[in-house]
Amino acid sequence: MIREIIVYPDKRLKLVSKEVTSFDATLHTLLDDMYDTMRAKNGVGLAAIQVGVAKRLLIINIPLEEEEEGEYDQPKENTLEMINPVILEKKGCEKFQEGCLSIPGVYEEIERAKEIKVEYFDRNGKKHMIEDDDFLAIAIQHEVDHLDGKVFIEKLSFLKRKKFEKEWAKKMKEN
Ligand code: CO
Repeated sequence: MIREIIVYPDKRLKLVSKEVTSFDATLHTLLDDMYDTMRAKNGVGLAAIQVGVAKRLLIINIPLEEEEEGEYDQPKENTLEMINPVILEKKGCEKFQEGCLSIPGVYEEIERAKEIKVEYFDRNGKKHMIEDDDFLAIAIQHEVDHLDGKVFIEKLSFLKRKKFEKEWAKKMKEN
């Protein structure tokens, strides 16, 4: 089921999400709904707080390039579901153009660690550890920030942030 996505500057985006303690049917429904919601909006990642649930979980699904049709696809089985993720190590830095379903239409270059090591649980409560130094590492850092009540535009320079706020306020008024 597609859920409604919270849009900046909704105050709920500032909440620090709480740890997941039960890996039950409610959690599974939430994860399934988040996938439907992310797909419907053509996103690559979504944190639970973006659908109004302040729990420490996120999903990421980096589109595959379908060579034959020249289209992108995100099969459900490729979805990385991370419950209670903790970034254990960060190395290097890299700039990447980021966007966010809670700030639709805005894309900005953001600097983050290039390489990370993350520990997390899957939907059945099994612990996993992964390392990445590519787009996935960037996506995880973006989504983990949401769990701590942060959005990517907070990482912009003072002047760029000011410009963004002005343009965003104007856009919100028009809608
Ligand atoms: Co986001």
